[in-house]
Amino acid sequence: MTLPISNAVITAIGSYVPEKVLTNADLEAIVDTSDEWIVQRTGIRERRIAAESQYSSDLSILAVRDMARRYNVQLTDIDYIIVATSTPDTFVPSVASRVQAEFGMQGCGTADLQAACAGFTAALQMANGLLLSGIYKKVLVIGTETLSKATDYTDRTTCILFGDGAGAFLLEAASGSKSDIIAASSNTDGSGGHLLYRSSLSPSIGGYDIIATSNIVQNGREVYRWAISEVSKGINELMKKSGTSAAQINWFAPHNANQRIIDALCDKTGFHLEQALSSIAKYGNTSAASIPLAIDDAVRDGRIAAGDTILLYGFGGGLTQSGILLRWSI
Ligand code: ACO
Repeated sequence: MTLPISNAVITAIGSYVPEKVLTNADLEAIVDTSDEWIVQRTGIRERRIAAESQYSSDLSILAVRDMARRYNVQLTDIDYIIVATSTPDTFVPSVASRVQAEFGMQGCGTADLQAACAGFTAALQMANGLLLSGIYKKVLVIGTETLSKATDYTDRTTCILFGDGAGAFLLEAASGSKSDIIAASSNTDGSGGHLLYRSSLSPSIGGYDIIATSNIVQNGREVYRWAISEVSKGINELMKKSGTSAAQINWFAPHNANQRIIDALCDKTGFHLEQALSSIAKYGNTSAASIPLAIDDAVRDGRIAAGDTILLYGFGGGLTQSGILLRWSI
């Protein structure tokens, strides 16, 4: 739905990816695959992998430090933190509360949000609502994943896709008519939940409950079909509802799941490939982190300029879709 005039503005962005690079050649040594197959089917050439002792909160904290350094941000008066992730360090406490502990914000609300690869855009929508409510003034939104810790490296159909990283936006309430969030939409088809999920914990082995590794499992072919058919419809509906078209929007920031999906979404929505922000070749699929990572790459290299409009569109397990049309004002 088209939102009323909002006073939520984006005032800073930051990101972080781990140092360790896992190339397609490295994967050739682990599973039966080839660089040629991976590049042709996904566009991915390498991905970043968190260190053994590095978790989603650690990546988040480094992304926030990057944001604070580049934009000279005062962190202590942030009054809400929302973290989108499918790979939290622990379910309790939340990643958001670990970020609060690191920076010591006082009187600050914290919550993690799980909407798979639609998580970052869903969190932006929540942040917009918190700011419009008038209750909160400065909301930190983070998309972070350590998918490598939830990947089965014997399964060639998934291990070639996933990587680790984190991105953060700061949103603040601003008086006057200035509005960065122009429109938003969501859609969920819960009946497709079985197509992409994190496996459950082992109930028991030898009579003892154990916490086993829980990995991401997906029916790649069906998820691919759904993305091309249903996600393109969702994007077109968001543009229609906001009275705009791909030709009037500067940038398209889809979830970076697979370059073939991005290409097909452009084809079905009218965006030129040059408008699509993709960093999939170097980061792979980083789920909730992929949209802020791709946007921050374009901010850092000067492609995105103040005044540009960007259509962000997350989609993934659930099956979830969540989109936002925004104006970039920094
Ligand atoms: N290397 C070599 N061959 C492989 C590999 C691999 N890594 N993986 C699968 N294959 C083989 C299969 O075994 C199959 O062989 P067969 O024909 O002998 O049976 C063949 O390649 C084709 O397999 P498909 O699964 O049909 O391959 P497809 O072209 O669909 O590509 C892929 C697989 C890349 C996973 C694709 O389905 C895809 O990208 N799906 C969407 C996945 C995605 O983006 N999910 C995330 C969206 S939401 C989120 O981000 C969480």
